[in-house]
Amino acid sequence: MTTSYDFDHMPEHVRRYDEFPPLFVPGYEASHAMAAAVLSERIGTQASLLVIGAGGGIEIARFARQFQGWRFTGVDPSQAMLDLASARLDAEAGEAQWSLVQGTAADAPEGPFDAATAFLCLSFVPDDGSRLEQLRAIRQRLKTGAPFLMIHAASEPARIERDFARFAEHARLRGAEPEVIDTAVSVNRTGIHILTPEREAELLVQAGFRLDGLFYRGLWIHGWEATTCAV
Ligand SMILES: C[S@@+](CC[C@H](N)C(=O)[O-])C[C@H]1O[C@@H](n2cnc3c(N)ncnc32)[C@H](O)[C@@H]1O
Repeated sequence: MTTSYDFDHMPEHVRRYDEFPPLFVPGYEASHAMAAAVLSERIGTQASLLVIGAGGGIEIARFARQFQGWRFTGVDPSQAMLDLASARLDAEAGEAQWSLVQGTAADAPEGPFDAATAFLCLSFVPDDGSRLEQLRAIRQRLKTGAPFLMIHAASEPARIERDFARFAEHARLRGAEPEVIDTAVSVNRTGIHILTPEREAELLVQAGFRLDGLFYRGLWIHGWEATTCAV
């Protein structure tokens, strides 16, 4: 089973990781504020959260700063990205607030958690049964009625080239260097599995979620809000 794109073989990308999401993800910081607002409304101030693709630690650090009663379990297959997360969280979050596990959703503790997020990570997993398997692994670790927020690109075959062009132009206008843009386009073409919004919705439902709608969107980057159904 293909489970992930290997950040451990991209040391330069990891070293400069903090620079990249704001260049390539329209509204990156704002998406975290919107996610925090949705989660706060849904789970309150004392809760346990499963954070899939937690490498870098950016979203955990942001959430932890604002909600001292949230406790995070972060999961990521890349040791280099987990090291980056540890360094950030050591400096920016309370010691008792977080723990990290190397792997994918299937390697996470059973929970059950009050909420889960998967930001900019599940699109590394192909739609060959692996994506559904990972969504099911997330569902199994959540309480019934728990929110799940997922962010990544979605497009249609008829507009994929237009969306790549907008992706590159947005990064250029944000100040990204040409070679960084070329690498990002190439990684997205070869390593990311961009599905249609309809297929994303179908997979969420098959995995046992109710789709509530989008809580955020920036160009082709979608932020889905879903809720676990009773099993
Ligand atoms: C673009 S970074 C996103 C990191 C962070 N969530 C953020 O929004 O800044 C993608 C991360 O997803 C991780 N990843 C790749 N495949 C994964 C999978 N199957 N499950 C969980 N994380 C995965 C990578 O190792 C990497 O740390």
